[in-house]
Amino acid sequence: MEELSKHKSILVSEIINFLEIKKDGNYLDGTFGGGGHSRAILERLGPKGHLYALDRDPTAIRFAKTLKSKNFHFFPLSYLEVEDLEKQFDGAILDLGFSTDQLYSSGRGFSHTKTDELLDLRYDANGGQSAWQFLNQASVSQIEKVFREYSEDRYAKHLASKITASRREKAIKTVGDFVEIIGTSEPAVLSRLFQGLRIQVNDELDHLKFGLREIKKCLKVGGVLAVISFHSIEDRIVKNFMKEQMKVVTKKPVTPTLQEIQVNPSSRSAKLRVSINL
Ligand SMILES: C[S@@+](CC[C@H](N)C(=O)[O-])C[C@H]1O[C@@H](n2cnc3c(N)ncnc32)[C@H](O)[C@@H]1O
Repeated sequence: MEELSKHKSILVSEIINFLEIKKDGNYLDGTFGGGGHSRAILERLGPKGHLYALDRDPTAIRFAKTLKSKNFHFFPLSYLEVEDLEKQFDGAILDLGFSTDQLYSSGRGFSHTKTDELLDLRYDANGGQSAWQFLNQASVSQIEKVFREYSEDRYAKHLASKITASRREKAIKTVGDFVEIIGTSEPAVLSRLFQGLRIQVNDELDHLKFGLREIKKCLKVGGVLAVISFHSIEDRIVKNFMKEQMKVVTKKPVTPTLQEIQVNPSSRSAKLRVSINL
């Protein structure tokens, strides 16, 4: 049976308005997730239009299979690899971070409440180092850097020392092991620390910095780029890239309405920036 995504897509009508979709255009959804934005784009394409969707998490294919259109094409790739498609787009979107499906049902430790899960945190569990491997192998200064720069936590040094002291006694494996060492159940603190580890193991900032450059190369002149980010580190990268390399459409980021936040609290920190390729 087909599995439907539990992810609630954010700022959908705003994105659709900015894209000004041409019926016979070529579009890119660089972060497919549960496919909500893809669905909204596909509904507006005519028989000659095409939508190409990418996701670094190969398990997203189960949701891609529910979009039954010959104009829709899914590839389990990072948007960093967009040039491999050899296409030119009229518009591209990125909706950064992770989806509700990854948070609650991936089994990869994205939620600090799933204490029995392995603390993996990779989008693609087939490559690279998991978060628990990183925490067991990295030096105290590497761990401190992650919590200071990617979690923006002022106790980064103290937390890194706690981790390296504790792992001498017992290796860190599960979400529960990590939460116990940190010694708090405060969701804001844990979300911040999980964010830092996620950025580290997925090399998210490099994918974003270099990925924006690759996507721009694949945009037609006049092509629209729309990016939703969820924390200040990502938003700064997007803002600077657009200011330096493209024509900015949104002088200030567009944020969800109070109504959207009420229906979908996880949209509260979303910031949408839009620009045009010159
Ligand atoms: C917030 S979700 C996208 C939700 C989607 N817009 C929707 O409406 O259902 C972000 C998705 O981006 C994927 N992702 C993260 N980094 C990526 C990258 N570098 N390239 C492609 N996909 C990525 C994640 O695996 C996740 O599925």
